[in-house]
Amino acid sequence: MNELDSELVTGALRALGYRFVSEPDEAGVVLYNTCSVRERAEQKVWSRLGEMALRKAREPGLIVGVLGCMAEREGEALLKRMPVVDVLVGPGELDKLPGLLDNAVKTRASLAQEDEALRLLATPELEKPDVSLLRSAGESALQGNTHRRSGTLAAAQDTLELLDLSRAVSAIDGGHGASAYVRITRGCNKFCTYCVVPFTRGAEMHRPPDHIVDECKRLADAGVIEITLLGQTVNHYRFEHGSAVVVGGVTQPQKGRAYVHKAGEFADPYRGERVTTFADLLARIHEEVPGIRRLRFVTSYPRSFGDDVLGVIRDHPRICRYLHVPAQSGSDRMLGLMNRGYTVAEYEEFLLRARAALHQPQIGRPLTVAGDIIVGFPTETEEDHQATARLLERARYKNCFIFKYSPRPGTIAIEKLPDDVPEAVKRRRNNELLALQNRISDEVGREFVGQTMEVMVEGVSRRDVKRAKAASAAVAGGVTLTIGGRAANGAMGHVHEGDEADAACASGGGGVDGAGGVVQLSGRTEGDLIVFFDQPKGAAADDLVGRIVRVRVGEARMLALMGRMVEEGD
Ligand code: 5AD
Ligand code: SF4
Repeated sequence: MNELDSELVTGALRALGYRFVSEPDEAGVVLYNTCSVRERAEQKVWSRLGEMALRKAREPGLIVGVLGCMAEREGEALLKRMPVVDVLVGPGELDKLPGLLDNAVKTRASLAQEDEALRLLATPELEKPDVSLLRSAGESALQGNTHRRSGTLAAAQDTLELLDLSRAVSAIDGGHGASAYVRITRGCNKFCTYCVVPFTRGAEMHRPPDHIVDECKRLADAGVIEITLLGQTVNHYRFEHGSAVVVGGVTQPQKGRAYVHKAGEFADPYRGERVTTFADLLARIHEEVPGIRRLRFVTSYPRSFGDDVLGVIRDHPRICRYLHVPAQSGSDRMLGLMNRGYTVAEYEEFLLRARAALHQPQIGRPLTVAGDIIVGFPTETEEDHQATARLLERARYKNCFIFKYSPRPGTIAIEKLPDDVPEAVKRRRNNELLALQNRISDEVGREFVGQTMEVMVEGVSRRDVKRAKAASAAVAGGVTLTIGGRAANGAMGHVHEGDEADAACASGGGGVDGAGGVVQLSGRTEGDLIVFFDQPKGAAADDLVGRIVRVRVGEARMLALMGRMVEEGD
């Protein structure tokens, strides 16, 4: 979600004439797009801001902005603690950024002029300048307490939708690779007790289906072949056309209603002619945008995932058989305290149902499932922890993100449940589950040995990129900021803990030569398994990137498959 936000903001600023530079030191405006889900991600931002304060003491005209969840969560207190920050924009107000930046440029200029102290601070010979006199331009746009909008308020124009609608999609300047994200739902209504998202991103809002389909078409026209639909609870998507509100000719996003499946009810209870359910939306995109060779979606909420959706995935060949459905714990007591709204048995019933419908390795279409687990949630006992380990054994995820519980200000858990599991215990449980999951991932990978799979080529493998980098003497110094791990096309940092977790991701165009002249490429299967294979002789890496090729898997090594590209007539 953050990566998409960064892209939309970048596009909007570029359209206004902002130029993006690859080194933050060269930028006159430095923006951090932030994540608040865990404390560590926020700590990184604080430390970057500390570095920026030192720089700004020497360059009073520098503009620093904090975007995203941390801005929303901290609010104006962030400006007090770090006056180096001039612009503060919550994730629900990103459309306001250009206006705020304009104002900040003017305010900065006058502050720098009038502020003798700042001029004094700007003495280059001072090794560690005094940053205590920095003053913020104080431009902010936050949802504050309006963020849980009522249905009536939601009917007022949703300007954030305009940011999504104005997405710069062009084969020439959009900078799109073969993959792109499309948001379908914003915000969340679930209020899991540990989670800041309902507070920082606000209430669940569903985008009009025509806007979504149109965005997918524009992306396909620009050369995108893989789209990932985004939502915090993506399978809750529903748009009721009868109550659609139009402002200034633009259909507005719609507030999600409580989404409750009754026992034994396995399809959206509101489905019908005047409703676009999640299942309908998937089918519509598949039908109307045939250029999209892979359509996936994240993140699914395990409750209320209907058979209607499973049926659409099964019957539409370009919808990937991949689900990311976090369980969070394998203990019913923990799930209750987390307010997840399902039991372990109900979660497993869903996995069984999904596998019965979609796991067909015999026709080359297995279902892969990924999960999330939190360890060390308040009061978690060894018994609860073992129950989670047993769930991992049964769920057989292809991969699972394991997080140590991090108490977040403003959440229900931090108010009501003391963080009583010691850090060392959290670390041990985290390591135990990681080791267990690594073993399971390895076993899941081995099931693919001997099969020929379709792989979307993403680029040169990280191994070869590293080799090429080591070989190159011209390694630039300083911190290089990236957007979501991709090579930076701007001085905007996307600081997200998950970036490091994405251990085997490869990026970049082709052309980097590994050892012995053979370039190793990497790509992904429809089930999101990483596959490495050598670039065949006579084929240029650049020509293969962004294409879907067939690879015969020879070996499964840790979390990746190793194979050989199968060429026509092979
Ligand atoms: N502490 C640890 N992990 C968390 N997550 C969300 N909030 C917290 C928290 N306070 C994890 C959940 C979620 C993923 C995106 O981050 O597992 O699925
Ligand atoms: Fe957070 Fe729960 Fe919503 Fe996911 S479903 S975003 S964990 S509140």
